[in-house]
Amino acid sequence: MKVLVTGGTGYIGSHTCVELIEAGHTPIVLDNLYNSSAEALHRVAQITGQEVPFYEGDVRDEALLRQIFDAHRDIGCVIHFAGLKAVGESVQKPLDYYENNLSSTMALCRVMGQYGVKKIIFSSSATVYSADNEIPYREDSRIGGCTSPYGWSKFMCEQILRDIANADPQWSVVLLRYFNPVGAHPSGLIGEDPRGIPNNLMPFISQTAIGKREVLSIFGNDYPTPDGTGVRDYIHVVDLARGHVAAVDYLTAHTGEAVFNLGTGTPCSVLEMVHAFEKANGVTVPYIFAPRRSGDLPAYYADPAKSCETLGWKAELNVIDMCRDTWHWQSKNPNGYDA
Ligand code: NAD
Ligand code: UFG
Repeated sequence: MKVLVTGGTGYIGSHTCVELIEAGHTPIVLDNLYNSSAEALHRVAQITGQEVPFYEGDVRDEALLRQIFDAHRDIGCVIHFAGLKAVGESVQKPLDYYENNLSSTMALCRVMGQYGVKKIIFSSSATVYSADNEIPYREDSRIGGCTSPYGWSKFMCEQILRDIANADPQWSVVLLRYFNPVGAHPSGLIGEDPRGIPNNLMPFISQTAIGKREVLSIFGNDYPTPDGTGVRDYIHVVDLARGHVAAVDYLTAHTGEAVFNLGTGTPCSVLEMVHAFEKANGVTVPYIFAPRRSGDLPAYYADPAKSCETLGWKAELNVIDMCRDTWHWQSKNPNGYDA
């Protein structure tokens, strides 16, 4: 199937293009390169032997969307990755986040509807779950009470898409709630390429291991967790990408709205991740304990049972795989996609 992938030059989008191609689908990418490099698609071509048609532009540009749907009358569904994703920045720039994340989703759905393409997979996040839920989080756990404009923007996009599916029974909407995507393609050709100082744990660990950062600050060692550090559900980006391929299959057979967790269901602490990275790669990651980071929860992870039962998808790769593949990418590309 021909699949329009918005945000397809980004971290998760580029890995999903590889898995789509390997499953026999044909991705077409639209991205404004705000947080990514077109080089990612050259690397996808190196891995798969297939060039990916690329449109550089903004998802909010409805004329451009119409141009794409006119040029590719056989687009069967859309995977909508494009969006701004930095939690802390969203607190500083709420309007930018609401404007980009909501307007792009609405423009996309409006044009999709005009062309009769009514199948969409949306990148949502575990951040939409309320902090007062029991863990692990299930798809029917409470949502809301988000702690950042980024989180609210995902919550609101979910609601917009749910309302679209309610209004027109021809629509098929899949909301995928990602836990903590990490790792890189095993080829070492594509991976996460954050701009500036990384906010997230795994890129900070790998940049510390390679000497770009002096020391990792572990935010909090007094949480009510087994070793006192924060616990999350880290998922290999290749497993996550394969979850999207399973969702494409699901979309073709169903209408209405469905939501799935994409996580492993295996909790992992910050200290466990640091030690796994050292063990997997034979490197040292210097760290210090620092105060808790504002807004962080002590622990959460996914219950992935519904994804397994309904999508027939299950994460296969473990924390050692995540650490090995991150390091492979980092050491082959110390400056990311910049030569
Ligand atoms: P990313 O920044 O690498 O990819 C997003 C891409 O969207 C970028 O290439 C960016 O240039 C593009 N983009 C942004 N706004 C655009 C617009 N208006 N028009 C066209 N392109 C635009 O991020 P990622 O980690 O690959 O995340 C992909 C999606 O998954 C995002 O929606 C993100 O919120 C969501 N998500 C990510 C995580 C995570 O930890 N990485 C967790 C949960 C959900
Ligand atoms: N951490 C550190 N030091 C660092 C960075 C992170 O100790 O330098 C800790 C955090 O305190 C937390 C854990 O590592 O305990 C994971 O933190 P990340 O920043 O990697 O990830 P988060 O769980 O905070 O958030 C991520 C994404 C969000 C998404 C959320 C959904 O960044 O976009 O997962 O679960 F919404």
